[in-house]
Amino acid sequence: PERSPTLAYPRLIAHRGGGAGFVGLAPENTLAGLAAAHAAGYRGVEFDVMLSADGIPFLHHDDTLERTTSGKGPIAAASAAVLDRLDAGRWRDPAYAGEALPRLAAALELCLDAGLWINLEIKPTTGRDRATAQAVAATLLARWPTLAGPPSAPNNGGTPGNRSPAADPVSTFAPPPLVVSSFSPAALAEIARLVPALPRALLVGALPRDGLAQCRALGCCGLHLDATYLDRRTLAALRTAAPDLRLAAYTVNDPARMAELFAAGIDALFTDRIDLDPLGLVPATP
Ligand code: G3P
Ligand code: MG
Repeated sequence: PERSPTLAYPRLIAHRGGGAGFVGLAPENTLAGLAAAHAAGYRGVEFDVMLSADGIPFLHHDDTLERTTSGKGPIAAASAAVLDRLDAGRWRDPAYAGEALPRLAAALELCLDAGLWINLEIKPTTGRDRATAQAVAATLLARWPTLAGPPSAPNNGGTPGNRSPAADPVSTFAPPPLVVSSFSPAALAEIARLVPALPRALLVGALPRDGLAQCRALGCCGLHLDATYLDRRTLAALRTAAPDLRLAAYTVNDPARMAELFAAGIDALFTDRIDLDPLGLVPATP
């Protein structure tokens, strides 16, 4: 595929929709989490997207439902109607009981209303890489029809392609500030085919030997790496070899490590600790 348009990243991104793993914070991958990230002053969020048995995209991280919902078994075996009835909040705190497992469409609306930048991670269950990408593409195209245009069309806020502004609601013209990422090259290739105008990023653990070649082959504008394996030398080498590539690292909850990675040249960091703003990067909410 052609290289995807690029997108500016916020410096700090709320991981798993703004709630993960810490007592007192909202549950991960929920609307409450997204709202909490926004309330904490975050401008960007990352969340994970998986498919129900009947092909509806939901925000969810694990292959199975037990850890973060009142459901049981693989998410891929549950229908959307069943998933809609689950409690995705009580496991974190009784205060969040009744929090829904959100559909992707609902999360997008919240982010749009709040003006949140989005990193949508496609996290396919085994064998559903292309199907998950197709469902995500369909959801995004339904919300933003102008994304169906050529890659040069409106992703950086330019004039929309060949449509008359009078013919569509204004909201369909606003390019979503959204980058799709995945560990799955097959999912990214499918997104590139279906929505070439959407910025794409490859997710990796440690940088593979052919990491940059994979990015180029998939036309990615970003590379998201596991911070555990990142050092100054690797970052410098990436910067030199691919100056235009956005580099982001997950998941950094330690302020000292954040400072180190920013000093070493990382563009953005994913963090669970939306209750912290050690670097003063998050603008105060008005
Ligand atoms: O997108 C970065 C990060 O979320 C990848 O790890 O397992 O939390 O989805 P995970
Ligand atoms: Mg993720």
